[in-house]
Parts: sequence; C-alpha cells; structure tokens
Amino acid sequence: KKLVPGVAGTTYPIERLGIAPVVMADGPSAVRLSVKREGDDKKYFATNVPCETLLASSWNNEATYKIGKILGEECREYGIDVLLAPGVNMMRNPLCGRNYEYFSEDPLLAGKMSAAMVNGVESEGVGACPKHFAVNNQELNRLHNDARVSQRALREIYLKNFEITVKESQPWMIMTSYNNINGRHASEDRGLLETILRDEWGFEGIVVTDWGGGYDAAKQIWAGNDLIEPGRYAEVKRIMEAVKSGELAESDLDRCVKRVLELVVKSIRHKGYKFSNNPNLEENGKLTREIEPEGFVLLKNEQNALPFTKEQKVALFGTGAYNLILSNSVSVRSLHGRTVNLDEGLRNAGVSLNEALDKRYIKHMQNEKKRLAPFWKLRRWCTYDLRPVELRDIRNHTARAAEESDIAVITIGRNSSESFDRHVERDFNLNMHEQAMISAVSRDFHSRGKKVVVVLNICGPVEIASWRDKVDAILVAWLPGQEAGNSIADALLGKVSPSGHLSTSFPMKYADVPSQNFPHNEVEWCAESGKNLSRVFDQKQPIYYDVPNIDYTNYEEDIYVGYRDYATRKVEVAYPFGYGLTYSQFEMSDMSVKECKDGYKVSCTVKRAGNFPAKQVVQLYSSELAPEVDRPTIELRGYKKTPLLQAGESTVVEIVIKKEDLMTYNEKASAWKLTKGEYDLLLGFDSQTLPLKHRITITKEILK
Ligand code: BGC
Repeated sequence: KKLVPGVAGTTYPIERLGIAPVVMADGPSAVRLSVKREGDDKKYFATNVPCETLLASSWNNEATYKIGKILGEECREYGIDVLLAPGVNMMRNPLCGRNYEYFSEDPLLAGKMSAAMVNGVESEGVGACPKHFAVNNQELNRLHNDARVSQRALREIYLKNFEITVKESQPWMIMTSYNNINGRHASEDRGLLETILRDEWGFEGIVVTDWGGGYDAAKQIWAGNDLIEPGRYAEVKRIMEAVKSGELAESDLDRCVKRVLELVVKSIRHKGYKFSNNPNLEENGKLTREIEPEGFVLLKNEQNALPFTKEQKVALFGTGAYNLILSNSVSVRSLHGRTVNLDEGLRNAGVSLNEALDKRYIKHMQNEKKRLAPFWKLRRWCTYDLRPVELRDIRNHTARAAEESDIAVITIGRNSSESFDRHVERDFNLNMHEQAMISAVSRDFHSRGKKVVVVLNICGPVEIASWRDKVDAILVAWLPGQEAGNSIADALLGKVSPSGHLSTSFPMKYADVPSQNFPHNEVEWCAESGKNLSRVFDQKQPIYYDVPNIDYTNYEEDIYVGYRDYATRKVEVAYPFGYGLTYSQFEMSDMSVKECKDGYKVSCTVKRAGNFPAKQVVQLYSSELAPEVDRPTIELRGYKKTPLLQAGESTVVEIVIKKEDLMTYNEKASAWKLTKGEYDLLLGFDSQTLPLKHRITITKEILK
C-alpha cells in the first residue's frame, strides 16, 4: 500500500520468487493518488481530464484516445501499473449518481469510447480496467441491489458496451460490479465471466472484483474472478477451506494464479521501469484544454448570442462560475493543484467583468465557504450536495448590472457522487433561487436589448424546458476537467466552436424518463456508516429484505433506454440524443450505400455553410420496417466526426457497418438474429433530424 500512497490497491509481492506487486489506481477523471507524502515536500499532482460524459459528447474517438494516453502516461510515471477505468455502464436513468463516470445511454457510443480510452491508456505501457461489469446502473444499495433484466436487454444494451470494449481493445483487466444480476452476484456469475466474457467474446485479461464486492470468495474464484480486492484474510481462509474440502477445484485456483502472473509480467514494475514521478503535467494540461470544447454541447444560440467578443463587458451570475465543478466522487477525485474558475478564465482571456457584481459574488463565496467548511470536513467522502447557495438578494443586482454590462453569463452547477443517486427536486430540477436568478437577469437584460447566456456545468441532464425561453444561449460544459474556466472562456469567446453532441437525451421533465421505477427520491443510504437501508447482516447470516427498487429493480423498460424509448413512443424531449449546435452551419448530401464484405459502406458529403470554422458529427441510425419483434424505431449504428472545416469546405464521411450490427437478440434461440426484410439506413446530425435515407433489403436470415 505504501508503494504509491493513496492508490486504490496493490497486490502482494512474493520476493522469494521475484514476483513484483501490481499497483492499481482509480480513474477515470484523473489518476487518483495522494498529493502529499509524509516527509516529502513534493506535490504529486495529476491532470484532471474531462468526465466521460463530455468525452462521449465529443463523438471523437481520437480525442478520447488522447485523454487515455494522458492518463496512461501519468500512471506510468507515478509507478502505477493499472488504471481502474473507464466506467462503461449504461445511463439507464439520468439520476444515477455515477453517470458522469460513464459515457452514454447508447451501448455503441459507450463501447467505442471505452475502447478508445483503453487503447489510449495501454499505448503507454500500463493497463486499463473497464468497469463495472455489468448492469451497475444505480447507486442506492449499490452493494446488494439485484438488477432484474431480460436476456435481450442484457445482450443488446447492458452487455453490448462491454462486448465492443473487449473486441476492440482487449483490456488488461475488467472489474466486476457490486450489484446482483437476476439473483446472482455479478462477481459470482460464471456464465457471465467465463461463458460470455471469455468464451464468446474472447477476453484474455484478468477479472478483478470491485472493492469489497460480493459475498463468497470461493464462489467468486469459481465463477472466474482472478483477483479479489482489496483482499482480506477471511477471504483467503475461505478459499483455502473450499479447496481443502473439494468445494473449489484446485485447477480453478491455478487458473487465477496463472492469470495474475500474466498480469504481473506485463506490468511496468516487473519490467523494472524507472518511473520519474514527473509526468508531463504542463503538456497534458494544454491538451486537456484543447479537447474540452470538443464535448461542450451548444443547445441554443438565438441570433448568434455566442460567441461574444472580449470587448463586451460581462455580468457574471451564479455561484457556479466561482466554484466550477471539474469532477468529483471518490473514485475519480484527484487534486491537480488549482481550479480555473470562470471569472478567472474570462479575465485570462482579456474580458472585463462587471466589478460591483464580481465583488458581491467574491464576498458571498467567502461567506459560503466558511459556512460549508465544517460540513465538508465532516463528510470528507461525499460533499456533492454541499454547494454554495445562490444570492438571495439577486433582484437588487440585476438592473444595475444590466445597465453597466453588455451581456449576462449565468452558470448553474450540478455534481453527484459514487454511492448516492441524484434527486429530482434538488438535482434534476433547478431550485427556486436558480429559477429566480434566471428570471430576474432575463427581465433586466432583455428589457435593455442585451443577451443572456447560460453555462451548465453539470454531471448529467437537468430540466431545461421551463426556463430556456428566458435565455438566448445555453452551453453544456459538463464537468470539463482542470482547465474548465479557460476552456469555457475559449468557447464563449469563439476561440474555438463547441462541437459536442449529447450522448444522453435531455427529457422535457423527469416524469418522461422511461425507467420510472428508478429510486429517485429515496432517503439517503449512508455509505460511510455502512448502514444499509434494507439488508442487515446478523453475524454470518444475512437477513434479506425485498424492498422493490432498493433490494431489487425490475428493468421494466427493457431495451427502451433513453432515445430508444423517446423516439419509439414519440415522446417530446427538450433536446434529443445526438443533438448539438456549433457556431457554423452544415449541409449533408449525396448519401451512398455500397455493399461490402459482410456489410455496407455508407457515405455522405458534409459541407460547411456557415462563417465559423467548426467540426460536425455525422450519425448513422437504422430502422427495420416490419420487425418480427418489438424494436426501437431508430438505433445508432455508427458515427464520425469531421475534421475542422474551413469556409465552403466539404468532406466525404464514410461509416462502415456489418450486417450483424442490425441483429436483435432472440431469447428463445439464445442467439443473435438478423431477420429478412427491409431496413432504412438514416443519416443526420442528431437522432431526431435524419434527412438522408437509403433502403436496404436483407435477403438471408442469420442466426448466430
Ligand atoms: C468503486 C470502483 C473503484 C474502487 C476502488 C469502488 O468503490 O466502485 O469504481 O475502482 O472502489 O477505489
């Protein structure tokens, strides 16, 4: 544990046999290690990279690969062998507390992004560990919840993301999840770990438990877990006894030993790599800043409110601007030494802020920090909901600020954390102070012909429909990473056009979300005290309770997650999956579909029609015309981001898909099936606007 202070885990060395320990540290938003070490003045900083939701919103595999490289290099230079990332789970519900550690509500996008990150990390000579395998979609009662989900939804949604990851990146390690799946703990499910993961997908790496997850160490070994973390003596004893009694075959244990040794010989420590303890933080910070706007999503931009010029005086509203959230949660937090807030970012870019307002906020923030400090200290583990409140006397400031400034920028922040799910009222909806701030700013600025911009520094979707008409522009910056203030300023001032598209839908209201049985307003479950809402361990005998949605959750919406539901039921959303504007306009034309080996080459021309240099995202969906089973009306099949296009410039985008990509999972046959019939291939810039269409006919059924 002392090899690299602050990391999540270290395996035991066996010096007698020359077997080195393997050091594992959390990600995905930074390499997590202790910044300070005893008797050492040096600070061990790590780069805070954008959260995974931002990366997926970039729809740029190359950008995610580069972020993976940053994480990999920093691991290697700190002597860390494996990064415990990326998080690959599906965003079943927008309130899941760990969604920002995940990529998307769509398994293809999540899988491709995950593979890109793994490949980036591993290109630096260290391992990656996609997690949490599988169906880890709610934090409430996360150690015990039983996710009850159909085989079809498992295959098409909740395993598909991992399948793509394994097939396209063959990671060194995979972490099993804390939850149960259909009555069996994920780490004790041999069908999942041996049959599906290894036999069907060809996984060759090592399987590790999530920290402290699972009930029975012997069963975990039998099922195909090779490493149990953090590892307790009781577990060793249990395994030894099981082998002695014949309950566990020695060959199962040998298999683990072999796989752990395979990991050891790959690791940098075994290879004797002389790590520097000096990763290239400066370069990594610069690259992070460049990548951040790739995933910023511009939702609204009436009359080109954005970008504004640095000559325009800005009235900066919202405590969020002075307290930007870069990333949070136990498994992703790391100190990188500084936070660039939005006031600083705008000043760095040469913008002058409304002084009186700025002073008022600075004073307010000092008071709020003082008020919150004892609580932060008390709840070291999770402070995501302990945020400064908005100014109560906002109405006393808006008229003067509007008089003195040229434009208003309001920042709204939302954070969440491992172990806790978000709530509808306090997290998804804006609170009354935030609503009052937007109304007052809007009234006073608009009455003077001045524009209002909202920056959303959020961990996941929030309700927008009720207030969006009051503002001119909305920019989703997600949790952007350490350069937050600078990169948001870059986007607001048009140093670069935001070019992200939503990797998750923004519903009109929470009631529209398909997984309504998600525990969305439950009493808190306290991770620190270990108190569990529903399951009590009485010595060795657990007492089981059966509280719906806490002890078990029926995935009633089945395969209809996110846009698959909204598009099929024709439910209006605030902003659809795949949506995003830029400071430019684009045209799409000349769709062509050519049959190639096992599939199709789909291409189109994208031309930049607007004034501003920008990138665009081409998305390909499929729709089966007369499916023999219930099927979403559209499903994402591929995507590509264009390079930066100059005025009038056009580019040809090509996306290759396989016929197999159009299959559904047939439960009766326990197999993937491609049915004969007609399918539309649809191209567009978001899931709701798909102007180009080409019909193909499948003439031969495939069962696989
Ligand atoms: C989290 C994992 C993490 C592990 C080690 C667990 O609580 O669920 O994501 O990698 O801790 O820190």
